[in-house]
Amino acid sequence: MRENMKRLLDANERINFGGGEEKIEKQHKSGKLTARERINLLLDEGSFVEIDKYVRHRSVNFGMENVDAPADGVVTGYGNVDGRLVFVYAQDFTVVGGSLGEMHAAKICKVQEMALKMGAPIIGMNDSGGARIQEGVDALSGYGKIFYRNTIASGVIPQISVIMGPCAGGAVYSPALTDFIFMVEKTSMMFITGPQVIKSVTGEEVSQEDLGGALTHNKTSGVAHFVDKTDEECIARIKVLLSYLPSNNLESAPIYECGDDINRIEESLNEIIPESANKPYDMKKVIETIADQDSFFEVQPLYAQNIITGFIRLNGKSIGVIANQPRVLAGCLDINASDKAGRFIRTCDAFDIPLLNLVDVPGFLPGTGQEYGGIIRHGAKMLFAYSEATVPKVTLILRKAYGGAYLAMCSKDLGADQVLAWPTAEIAVMGPEGAANIIFKNDIANSEDPITTRQEKIEEYRNTVANPYTAAHRGFVDDVIIPKITRPRLISAFDMLESKRDSRPKKKHGNLPV
Ligand code: HXC
Repeated sequence: MRENMKRLLDANERINFGGGEEKIEKQHKSGKLTARERINLLLDEGSFVEIDKYVRHRSVNFGMENVDAPADGVVTGYGNVDGRLVFVYAQDFTVVGGSLGEMHAAKICKVQEMALKMGAPIIGMNDSGGARIQEGVDALSGYGKIFYRNTIASGVIPQISVIMGPCAGGAVYSPALTDFIFMVEKTSMMFITGPQVIKSVTGEEVSQEDLGGALTHNKTSGVAHFVDKTDEECIARIKVLLSYLPSNNLESAPIYECGDDINRIEESLNEIIPESANKPYDMKKVIETIADQDSFFEVQPLYAQNIITGFIRLNGKSIGVIANQPRVLAGCLDINASDKAGRFIRTCDAFDIPLLNLVDVPGFLPGTGQEYGGIIRHGAKMLFAYSEATVPKVTLILRKAYGGAYLAMCSKDLGADQVLAWPTAEIAVMGPEGAANIIFKNDIANSEDPITTRQEKIEEYRNTVANPYTAAHRGFVDDVIIPKITRPRLISAFDMLESKRDSRPKKKHGNLPV
């Protein structure tokens, strides 16, 4: 073999081996795959093309001039997922702890720029000790450049962050700027300051897992969207998510063959709303029943469970669903639900995914906790997101639709293209019980039988106002439908709306209440 050929093959072998046998073994022992194994699992077999394999760091501080860091601790390139082009980077913890220095960052920036130019999703796998301490401000500058590119690409290409190891300090802000964050139980963590710093500053003691583990960010903080038990399961879920998304904001999401009957009549929906208005039912059952079979893919399933967000397919096409969940907090909107829904609505609108809004909402959650926490500005995010969204918007009112929450779930006035209601819908300023207590206060107080009078007044209010027909008389509801025909009606509505054109006045950008 020619000498120059041998040199290339030797270099490739050495670089592909990352931090070497011992470090790879340690990585596997801690339950993690290596960067290259992760990329190979994600991409279609044989499709990965590596870029910048031979990049080297330029640091000469603290003995770094003698440190050989294969691929400078991050594997970057492109390949296919289900035949569609994506760009990837995966930090290699076996090489200087996957720490990020000047050249490591430059590699990530290069694939970010290529993904943006080519209009393809980018998937970043994070497993890193953070800024490479020996490189100082060069490392910090590297993060800044990545954040900048994350922001410029936002709303143009899907950006997916996968946390598969440590992600600490300012490093967490790249994932936070992207569209979706995946985490892996036990091995991944995200925090701005670690347990030791917290203890020295506030005296508070907390474990790494409780502070920034996968469950903390999926259940409590709402920073992450998905949690899986292993790297393998996590990577499989990323592929499913990609199947619902277009490659960029100028394309539509892929359409899949629909094996499910588009005219399917579902008798069970006629019975799903309980007789008593205060009894809950599972909104997820409704979603699963109307969607193409097995197509419901929930986003942030563990966070703010009083609202459900996720993707379904109707006749093979991606639809974003936002639905109140009567089983949790009676489906009330609160701060966390507003943040979760507001963000999801904007994600769908950015990527041309139509919205289906399933409404059963008694109102905004009352209380000082909510008011002091800023429910006014958080709730405003939903109004803002729905109003600015130009994708097809279809709203179905199943039961309660009261007060500001009725508007915040995308009423006709916020630009819903079609509003359908079931006969069980109650659309009013507030629930009949509360309304009767206020407007019939004197009648009830002066009655010989206040309990019966109150009950009569509640019924009077319900019959007069809290039904779908008053809203339908005014055209706020386009049609009142028998629940069992919901699936075909929704498919018909989205088919009709496929050619929708809508625009907003030219401006730099809106001022989303944050
Ligand atoms: C340089 C680093 C490093 C870093 C780890 N290493 N983090 N080298 N810069 N930031 C090296 C270690 O020296 C070690 O090298 C190898 O990577 C593996 O690390 P270990 O400590 O042996 O691994 P482990 O025990 O699993 O612990 C992992 C860890 C720990 C918890 C991540 O390494 C750690 O605390 N690192 C520092 C984290 C940190 O404070 N980073 C700065 C955050 S601030 P050898 O040669 O022994 O194999 C930040 C600012 C960003 O990132 C700001 C952006 C705006």
